[in-house]
Amino acid sequence: MIFSNPWYRSFRQRLIDWYSTNHRQLPWRETNNPYHIWVSEIMLQQTQVATVIDYYHRFLKRFPAVESLARAPQEDVLEHWSGLGYYRRARSLHAAAQQIVESLGGEFPNSVEAIQQLHGIGRYTAGAIASFAFDQPAPILEANTIRLFSRIMAITESTRLSSVQNQLWQFAEEILPTGDGSGKLNQAVMELGSLICTPQNPKCQSCPIRKQCRAHELGLEGQIPLVLKKPKAEPLVHVGAVIQDRQGRFLLRQNDSSQWWQDLWDLPWVEIAVRKSLKLDASERHEIEQTFSERLGIRVQVEQQLASVRHAVTKYKVHYFCLRSSLAKGSKLKASTNLGWFSIQELPPVSSRFKKIRLES
Ligand code: ADE
Repeated sequence: MIFSNPWYRSFRQRLIDWYSTNHRQLPWRETNNPYHIWVSEIMLQQTQVATVIDYYHRFLKRFPAVESLARAPQEDVLEHWSGLGYYRRARSLHAAAQQIVESLGGEFPNSVEAIQQLHGIGRYTAGAIASFAFDQPAPILEANTIRLFSRIMAITESTRLSSVQNQLWQFAEEILPTGDGSGKLNQAVMELGSLICTPQNPKCQSCPIRKQCRAHELGLEGQIPLVLKKPKAEPLVHVGAVIQDRQGRFLLRQNDSSQWWQDLWDLPWVEIAVRKSLKLDASERHEIEQTFSERLGIRVQVEQQLASVRHAVTKYKVHYFCLRSSLAKGSKLKASTNLGWFSIQELPPVSSRFKKIRLES
């Protein structure tokens, strides 16, 4: 045990008292439906609470139960995820819903081990669902609680070290009560982490457990957890071809599994060598046209630059140039399911960068 039994008893008591008067009312806290809690946790993985609320309601209105999600076409699921980013989450949710319906008779599993067998669910999410929905004594550890726990224990080493991770998981387990109340306690530690024990300027004076916090006692709350500098983003240059047919519809291409934004639609695009601007002299045009032809098998003629946007993806910063283009004379599009003509009014699920470009039809 890291601390004594009386230490944990008073920790729980102070935390629960604080939570009962200070927590935010969030829709996924008003339910113990594991499917609803699961959807909220997946949405919250990379997205802020304020953004998630509307998406959560819209998603559950369209897919009210695990069966309806399992049966839905993938397009429909991606459509309801559109704008949240990290679409792998939506694909995993869909695949796991099918797993539950096909292999588990539609019954949501209730143990951490069984929940963790589902597609896209790691140790944190399995613990969150098991404790919030089924009140199981399952520990949880995510960004907010890592920060809170490492301050309580005054851990000055990197929280990425496996020895530190083990210590944090052990603490997450030891704070849980025997008997009922693990779900509430887990909600409370997360809430304290996000409202009081903030990354910058933690509000220690309002913290119910400041007397039990070693970092506070040592005046180290500003230095813990150790934040390692992120490496600088690497530049990439992408070129998208803006091609319209006589009716003004745009030629779009669905990204395949080797590309970012898998299954989402975008202008046909290729990566080219990094440069600050596109000069578009004859040789540059030729080089870009060659790249389209080699990589995508689409013969295009590029004409002029229409727009450029900058966006980030994983560790890269991308400069995305969109060029007015046409299909090369005599070139026919191969019948292909990943290419299609779409009017602006009837777009398929598109990448968020496509939405950033202003295209007039
Ligand atoms: N972030 C992840 N899970 C959460 C939850 N249940 N409540 C608030 N923020 C969260």
